[in-house]
Amino acid sequence: MEDLSPRPGDLDPIETASRDEISALQLKRLKTTLDHAYRNSPHYRARFDEAGVHPDDLRTLSDLAKFPFTVKKDLRDTYPFGMFAVPQDKVARIHASSGTTGKPTVVGYTRNDIEMWATCVARSIRAAGGRAGDICHVAYGYGLFTGGLGAHYGAEKLGCTVIPISGGMTERQVCLIQDFKPRIIMVTPSYMLSILDEFRRQGIDPRSSSLAVGIFGAEPWTNAMREEIQQDFDMHAVDIYGLSEVIGPGVASECVETKDGLHVWEDHFYPEIIDPETGAVLPDGEMGELVFTSLTKEALPIIRYRTRDLTRLLPGTARAMRRIEKITGRSDDMMILRGVNIFPTQIEEQLLKCGGLAPHFQIELVRAGRMDDMVVHVEAMPHAADAVARASSAKELAHHIKSVVGVSTKIEVGDPDSVERSAGKARRVVDNRPKG
Ligand code: DLL
Repeated sequence: MEDLSPRPGDLDPIETASRDEISALQLKRLKTTLDHAYRNSPHYRARFDEAGVHPDDLRTLSDLAKFPFTVKKDLRDTYPFGMFAVPQDKVARIHASSGTTGKPTVVGYTRNDIEMWATCVARSIRAAGGRAGDICHVAYGYGLFTGGLGAHYGAEKLGCTVIPISGGMTERQVCLIQDFKPRIIMVTPSYMLSILDEFRRQGIDPRSSSLAVGIFGAEPWTNAMREEIQQDFDMHAVDIYGLSEVIGPGVASECVETKDGLHVWEDHFYPEIIDPETGAVLPDGEMGELVFTSLTKEALPIIRYRTRDLTRLLPGTARAMRRIEKITGRSDDMMILRGVNIFPTQIEEQLLKCGGLAPHFQIELVRAGRMDDMVVHVEAMPHAADAVARASSAKELAHHIKSVVGVSTKIEVGDPDSVERSAGKARRVVDNRPKG
């Protein structure tokens, strides 16, 4: 794989700033943000008043801990535009994330917000090894989901030629990759695996494709999956993180030269890690729930938003801005089976060790009598699809899961292509336990 480290002069000045400069900028922007939220959003004014805090109470960055959290329910309760801090005619764009229940969560952007977002995504693409002039294939979904348009504006801002293909129609994805020869692809990691299968189905060696950089996010994926994709495509696979409530993709991103966690673009987003039970702020290095405060957003300033994503804050490496460790799960996808905490990424890691199984999987939760059980649906690789090979693959995976994760699971090895595919975020867990 090519060495794609940045060249002198490639980076934004703030990317090479010292920690002190970053903190000073954060404090200044945080004051402005709290002030803006308090003055212009009745929701925030009411919440700050209830908590007995005022924007003037912020003197140091750690004073932020005095301010109340924002949660998804606040956005639902004020649906659709009740948390906006600018009049509607200043809102240039709306996005929404489809909640699993009820109404979607609606977010809004001013023109300046869209510009800032594009800057963060452009920076993320450059960190991943992209450059002006590259052709960038955007297979994140376009529409209310922030993935497609977020990637699109960032790639244009960097100076790329953008192919706005969106998700789906996998055969055509492969055809356009072969014909247009993009250097960069932006897509969910699970959908990248479907694209990989399609290359093989068409008899094309994926290593011969033009792709040199994949920028994968919107769902958890493991370092084992990174290795697999890098090997199969002979390309760099880099992680990008974000959420609609904060902006969309481009809140944090990995650097191709280190691939050691995601640098938070701290000039625009202030991260904290809290104990999810008590809400107390934890020191850097400790595992907990990620919380973000926006530092420059206008339409929807977001104060101490609880993401439910679990990770740690680590010191900067390739950049001075702090990193978050690859996100292994959300507090709400954690399954507790017979007392053991399990995340779908732990199953992914074990699955990728089994040569006879494809990397696609879905976990089904069932209840037999009073006991909850986990069935892992996987599929045989075409070269290991007979009954004997399947039985041996099932045994191998059950053994890895038992010895590393610590639970007994039932493994169902289906035919190649039998596990549900998604053109966006994969649905990793299906809960078929009786309700109530
Ligand atoms: O998924 C934004 C996005 C689009 C990020 C494209 C990256 C690429 P939401 O639909 O609001 O926004 O979902 C946000 O997805 O809280 C995480 O749980 C999860 N997530 C996003 N990126 C990652 C990642 C977009 N790199 C939620 N690793 C977040 C793990 C991720 N989980």
